[in-house]
Amino acid sequence: MRSLLVGFTLIVMAITAPIMAAQKVELSIDASKPGAKIDRNIFGQFTEHLGHGVYEGIWVGPDSKIPNTRGIRNDVVGALKAIKVPNVRWPGGCFADEYHWRKSIGPQRSVTLNPNWGGVTEANTFGTHEFMDFLDQIGAEAYVSVNVGSGTPQEAAEWLEYMTAAAPTTLAKERAANGHPAPYKVALLGIGNESWDCGGNMTPDYYVSQMKIYSRFVRNFNPAQQDKQQMLKIAVGPGGDGPRWTDWTETVMKAYQQHTWSWDINGLSMHNYTVGHWPPSYASVGFGETEYSQILKFTLEMDGLISKHSAIMDKYDPDKKIALVVDEWGGWYAPLPGSNPGFLVQQNSLRDAILAALNLNIFARHADRVRGANIAQMINVLQAMIITDKEKMVLTPTYYVFKMYVPFQDATFLPVTLDAGWYTHGDVALPRVDAIAAKDANGKLWLEITNLDPNQPVEIEASLAGIAPKSAAGETLTAPKVDSVNTFDAPNTVVPKAVSAKVQGGKLALKLEPKSVTIVSVEQ
Ligand code: AHR
Repeated sequence: MRSLLVGFTLIVMAITAPIMAAQKVELSIDASKPGAKIDRNIFGQFTEHLGHGVYEGIWVGPDSKIPNTRGIRNDVVGALKAIKVPNVRWPGGCFADEYHWRKSIGPQRSVTLNPNWGGVTEANTFGTHEFMDFLDQIGAEAYVSVNVGSGTPQEAAEWLEYMTAAAPTTLAKERAANGHPAPYKVALLGIGNESWDCGGNMTPDYYVSQMKIYSRFVRNFNPAQQDKQQMLKIAVGPGGDGPRWTDWTETVMKAYQQHTWSWDINGLSMHNYTVGHWPPSYASVGFGETEYSQILKFTLEMDGLISKHSAIMDKYDPDKKIALVVDEWGGWYAPLPGSNPGFLVQQNSLRDAILAALNLNIFARHADRVRGANIAQMINVLQAMIITDKEKMVLTPTYYVFKMYVPFQDATFLPVTLDAGWYTHGDVALPRVDAIAAKDANGKLWLEITNLDPNQPVEIEASLAGIAPKSAAGETLTAPKVDSVNTFDAPNTVVPKAVSAKVQGGKLALKLEPKSVTIVSVEQ
């Protein structure tokens, strides 16, 4: 009787236990049908004067005991250099529309307030020169957002002249006197930020009249940016998918279609956070599979949002001259208990790594239109790459995703087809596997594959049309739990590890761990 019971129990356990056998998935990459270039600018970063994003995250001051170069922390610079940050958007965000650049240049800095973010004092010790020095140290380009909400076209025009004029104007001489005789390069110019909300609550028509004025008068005088490498002007774009947002895109794009010689724009921004519902209430750590699957479902809405606004843009700009620049995106969760809610402090888990990969893949699939994106935000705020606390620094799972994706910067998109079925949890159903492929400038093939399923491994067999593979190597990012994080005490919980990928009979074979992001390179 006892042995019968044991046998019965074992059978029940076998039926109810999660099925851990790997799912076999066939995937094919067609190298003979190259798509658009995956613009390196989709890997852009955003840093705002908000909480400890700039102060403590980047700037500690030259007198700090924390090792620094001219006040900028060396550990952070070293980490950011390794992910080849293409551009950094600054100084905001909402902060940008209350920022007055003159208060943060020269030996005397004004102390102001930061009413958007905790009402704290703003020392203005990190200004134009410190930002440019930081960019120089990490090897990134400047994406400067000018103040349209509470500034004037004259203030913004003078800032650009101060930064970019080579001729000996009074402003250029002032820049030289402040330590930088050579003109700075400003690659991207944001004409306001969320002008429909914190940037001034403007109607689309009102914004368009402002945009034209700023586009006309806020000039870049850097001689190196007159023909090639011209500064790209990015207009404020939508922040959602309802009629309010489609109207906004229609109005800006219609104006662009009718633009005259005297003004121009090159991009339309879009903001879309993965939040679930406002105010943000999902925990950034200490959650389970339900919250994991729900957040990933929300994040995949990015694809529909891009398609919707791209379709409007196509009507007015069929040649896709205007880039869609998703210059604020990422997970936005409840503030960490005990933190200042105005500082937007959250943890960064394996779920964020997967969220980042899914969004980067969406941007890559829309590479013909999405030619820029800036994750919010780079350090200590929202979905950060880096978390610091005084002299301590830890790299987040999201940081490692950006590092793993470096080979995709400026690579050529290649179409991938696969059908891996669905991962379901409760009422959430998600594609089990997501993947993109690209060819870099040296002809090397790169494949990214995300296994969203937190319970089941996947065995991939990839056929590669137009490629004769010789060998393959890869890295994978996973961790024990969906909410695993890196901490100052345990910084290596979520770090990439080598994964073995085999080339057999012209096909590529590899096994993906559950809840993992994997990058494979194929030599041919
Ligand atoms: O990234 C935080 C804030 O989110 C930005 O300041 C604003 O543009 C957006 O609403």
